[in-house]
Amino acid sequence: MLLVQAILLFGVNLAVASVAPSMDLNDGNKIPLVALGTGRGTSGSIPIDEVRDAVLWAIEADYRHIDTAVLYQDETQVGQGVADAIAKGLVTREQMYITTKLPCERHAREQVVPTLRESLTRLGMDYVDLFLIHFPVATKDDGSPDDIDYLETWRGMEDAKELGLVKSIGVSNFNVSQIDRLLAKGKVKPAVNQIEVHPAYTNEELVAHCQNKGIAVMAYSPFGFLVPRNRTYVTPPLIDDPTLVKLAEKYGKTTGQVVLRYLIDRDMIIVPKSANKERLAQNIDLFDFKLTADEVATINKFNQNSSVFDFSGWKNYPYYPF
Ligand SMILES: NC(=O)c1ccc[n+]([C@@H]2O[C@H](COP(=O)([O-])OP(=O)(O)OC[C@H]3O[C@@H](n4cnc5c(N)ncnc54)[C@H](OP(=O)(O)O)[C@@H]3O)[C@@H](O)[C@H]2O)c1
Repeated sequence: MLLVQAILLFGVNLAVASVAPSMDLNDGNKIPLVALGTGRGTSGSIPIDEVRDAVLWAIEADYRHIDTAVLYQDETQVGQGVADAIAKGLVTREQMYITTKLPCERHAREQVVPTLRESLTRLGMDYVDLFLIHFPVATKDDGSPDDIDYLETWRGMEDAKELGLVKSIGVSNFNVSQIDRLLAKGKVKPAVNQIEVHPAYTNEELVAHCQNKGIAVMAYSPFGFLVPRNRTYVTPPLIDDPTLVKLAEKYGKTTGQVVLRYLIDRDMIIVPKSANKERLAQNIDLFDFKLTADEVATINKFNQNSSVFDFSGWKNYPYYPF
């Protein structure tokens, strides 16, 4: 019933056999708007062996999209959680949407397809729905810089798509000029750019640029500083921020749900991570309310360009995006 209301009120699409609202990608595929994040970099609160349960709980709570990466070292657990849900008769593989990402040390064109095949083996799947270049920077195995142009990497991504190992290809942490260069030189247009977006880091220029070019934006670390981070600084809003509390009271939601809805109302796909059954259910319970344009603008005013992630250790590497 809620989802029927969601379709009527907000014009979201339903993937044919899925219960999760989705959006159209520029390659004709559809992507569910809420992905369970399984990367544990900033919070460190989810031991790897909890990922399998979290994935199953998420599917029980109507998630149809799981976000993983070679870097997170949890593709095996993600695959097991999906297999558990399939064995229970909750979903079929075709109803699920799996995103994984190419690591920085595998950027040579000829490394891309073999790396994806290794991911597929760990996942226990014969394709993924979305494959992203995790970061435009290339490194050697020891983490030192490598001078591989991400355009070369993109050719490998195109190879993977042509082989049918992946339905859509995209990027992550690419900036405006890197997106433009890919659009000018690539054969296949990236379907997605996955980037950090939350109230303290609204990333408006990059989000608008991608969306204007028909590239869907996936917002990672969507809670910003509402949740504890391994950082020496904290940037408002926090979880009890009065402006967010007022909106939460108005809509009968939590402040976390208001922030997630704010990102949905900016036409983004969200990637909240939780390993807690109740919280992950809350994080998809977003489709029975909608913020006004003024409320979205009010939340945008929190922007301080304050990132949860600190990649500055790579700032002298070729193709550093920030
Ligand atoms: N492409 C990239 O470079 C990149 C970079 C970073 C992240 N990501 C992706 O984005 C995902 C999310 O990013 P993130 O993990 O940095 O940040 P996040 O989802 O914004 O925050 C996760 C933290 O919030 C807590 N939490 C979740 N739901 C909550 C709720 N309803 N109320 C209060 N606290 C809640 C979680 O704890 P509990 O688990 O205890 O609930 C965890 O500590 C990652 O898992 C990964 O999949 C991608």
